[in-house]
Amino acid sequence: MLDELTEIENPFLRSMTAAIVAASIATFGSGMVIALVNIKGESVYKTALCTSLLATVGGAIFGFVYDDKKGKQGQTLTNVTITPPQKTQEIDRRGWQDWRNFVVERKVEESQEITSFYLQPEDKGEIPNFQPGQFLTIKLDIPQQSRPTIRTYSLSDYSSSGQYYRLSIKREPTPKGLEVPPGVASNFMHDRIQQGSIIPAKPPSGKFALEVQQSIPIVLVSNGVGITPMLAMAKATTLLNPQRQIWFFHGARDGSFHAFYDEMQAIAQQNPNLTLHYAYSKPRPEDEGHYHSTGYVDVALIQSLVKLETEYFLCGSPPFMDSLRAGLKQAGVPDSRVFFEMFTKASKATAEPAPASAPSQATVNTQESEIVLSESQKTFPWQADADSLLEFLEAQDINPNYSCRQGICGTCECRLLEGEVEYQQPPTASVAEGSVLICIAKPKTAKVVLAL
Ligand SMILES: Cc1cc2nc3c(=O)[nH]c(=O)nc-3n(C[C@H](O)[C@H](O)[C@H](O)COP(=O)(O)OP(=O)(O)OC[C@H]3O[C@@H](n4cnc5c(N)ncnc54)[C@H](O)[C@@H]3O)c2cc1C
Ligand code: FES
Repeated sequence: MLDELTEIENPFLRSMTAAIVAASIATFGSGMVIALVNIKGESVYKTALCTSLLATVGGAIFGFVYDDKKGKQGQTLTNVTITPPQKTQEIDRRGWQDWRNFVVERKVEESQEITSFYLQPEDKGEIPNFQPGQFLTIKLDIPQQSRPTIRTYSLSDYSSSGQYYRLSIKREPTPKGLEVPPGVASNFMHDRIQQGSIIPAKPPSGKFALEVQQSIPIVLVSNGVGITPMLAMAKATTLLNPQRQIWFFHGARDGSFHAFYDEMQAIAQQNPNLTLHYAYSKPRPEDEGHYHSTGYVDVALIQSLVKLETEYFLCGSPPFMDSLRAGLKQAGVPDSRVFFEMFTKASKATAEPAPASAPSQATVNTQESEIVLSESQKTFPWQADADSLLEFLEAQDINPNYSCRQGICGTCECRLLEGEVEYQQPPTASVAEGSVLICIAKPKTAKVVLAL
């Protein structure tokens, strides 16, 4: 009966229903007692009437305050309460500030190297809406790692029901020619994370996000696992703004590396304003009919097919992105219409410098800086050839938390207790006042004190 009561969302209606039920039970109960015990007298009937009235009031109060959400706590994973995506795309972080446990509800192989993980909150509460293109930051307890490993993964799905988050993760091998361990988190996810595993995650975040409701046509360009945010963008636009024109370019080596082929075909069938173009660099005979051109996706290819003024969203490997960004610039596309995200650090040649700031009185030749760590009480002379404070500290065997190493995720945020730093590129993550992102910062003053 409580379950039925939880289905009534309006508290007044719920209150009335509970009052009627409680009154009926009390009246029926006292009637039975009077009949069975066979007692008579005015006071007996008055007592029965009072009991019914009290039950009515009690039922009404109970129905009014009964908490719908608490009532649903014991349900199964698939019955989880969710907030469906809103047309307004408002970011909603209800009840979730820091880490929250998620259960892997499903694990699906998407290609030779990419596997998807469907996550639902362990507490079975609501999951907030997100903007397509945003990511989740997850924390993994990996054996042999001295501390939790934190990584960021784009949300690769956008459904109208919004019942889960999906991450699609590429297994990172050892780079060719290097004798280093393969990717820590991605291999752990592929090999050790199974249905039922618990993964703590932070709320969706990130500024590489599509404003779905705008009307300017969009060109989504990706290669490899860079397809993940593009997929969410194409799906959200198809669902929420299907009249918007989309070109979806994707590059893969061959069909075995091409994830989400069937999923994209299904979206394209639903959306006549979505044009797909797949370029395979080394197609196999069995890939015939699955791709549109041989080679790589480049600006010449894009501009041979797209004749309108558009916005460009790019995500892929660093060389792919470097060449696309340079090509678009050369083709006269203003920077304001090009949005991009890299999963690994950009090459130094193309990294966007931070806006120049006037040197302060305290600015010195940073070769002379000293870096003081207040918590571990260590002091190091800065090495001018270090790319960032994070890299410098790692070389000193200090291992601060990090994930993106590009100022996107905020994982390396650290309080700056004294001195100033300068950024190598503008931070994308929001940074609390008095804190800095050490993955993109270098010292700017003679002494920099960090709360590490
Ligand atoms: C915003 C954002 C969104 C992202 N979305 C996705 C996504 O949707 N899907 C996805 O798969 N990834 C995504 N990533 C990348 C992801 O966060 C991880 O960086 C990736 O999974 C690799 O992590 P790892 O722990 O497996 O590899 P790591 O352990 O970090 O290693 C990375 C690579 O470096 C190599 N390596 C190890 N040691 C050394 C060394 N000493 N010298 C040189 N190389 C070394 C490893 O072999 C590996 O190839 C995203 C990243 C960002 C910033
Ligand atoms: S590691 Fe992501 S912001 Fe520094």
